[in-house]
Amino acid sequence: MSFYGRDIISIRDLSREDIELILDKSRRMEKIVESDKNLDFAFRKVLASLFFEPSTRTRLSFESAMHRLGGKVVGISERETASLAKGETLADTIKTVERYSDVIVIRHPKEGSARWAAEVAQIPVINAGDGANQHPTQTLLDLYSIKKEKGKIDGLSIALVGDLKYGRTVHSLAYALAHYDSNMICVSPKGLEMPESVVNDLESYDLSFKQVHDLKESINADVIYVTRIQRERFADPSEYEKVKGTYRLSAEILEKSDAIVLHPLPRVDELDPSLDCTNHAKYFEQVQNGLIVRMALLCLVLGVDI
Ligand code: NCD
Repeated sequence: MSFYGRDIISIRDLSREDIELILDKSRRMEKIVESDKNLDFAFRKVLASLFFEPSTRTRLSFESAMHRLGGKVVGISERETASLAKGETLADTIKTVERYSDVIVIRHPKEGSARWAAEVAQIPVINAGDGANQHPTQTLLDLYSIKKEKGKIDGLSIALVGDLKYGRTVHSLAYALAHYDSNMICVSPKGLEMPESVVNDLESYDLSFKQVHDLKESINADVIYVTRIQRERFADPSEYEKVKGTYRLSAEILEKSDAIVLHPLPRVDELDPSLDCTNHAKYFEQVQNGLIVRMALLCLVLGVDI
């Protein structure tokens, strides 16, 4: 199984073996980083970073990963400064950018845009989030974080909390967990449940799965994966006003719980800062893991053996 030249568009394109290989390579990358060895694995390679939606962690961690591997980065971080704003098609942008680079990382508000970019491009394309659809590299770092903290993924009970309708990170994570023998508890405000299409797909796997609305249902889980309500994806702002602030996880609520708390970040008000200095909070470690996993993934698609 080779990742050389492969697109990373949806977590659904990856088998359990694919996922495990990426997690193994990430563990190896973490050791290499710790040992301070020469990291010039991507020397003379160029990453094109195309972000047509806001991002802090995903963009900067991909860019930092490439720099740390000795490669270079070119990029667009605002739609307004790119020729898309003059009416250029995404296809023409991709056909241009691929001539400047060896790998493309793209975030775009439209679902399916990363797949479309991959069909046009001759070089590997990595989806850094396409609308409310998928965010596969976030899922890889989420799984890496779970395995690092809990020593395994199989057999765990994992609560996905928050906006399960519009949150792409939870869609990707749910599909990945379907490969594991996990017990998934979906906790969302009414109206923001997992889309029916995702639920139908999940039901075809042998996965224990329930949908609830009460945050308390999550406190006995091994992992509580919290997400923000995705304000920018609501067609009607008054609908957002009705659900904002529904959940706020705090140190007090988790007093008797052993759960670790993960969050893809950014957080708004769903994680009380009282949690930050507790043993539950692993969301900033998760950020660090993101850098490692993306370094490993870049090596894989660029054909560098680590
Ligand atoms: C997430 C995203 O962009 O989907 N952020 C991230 O990549 N770390 C989550 C979010 O925006 O809520």
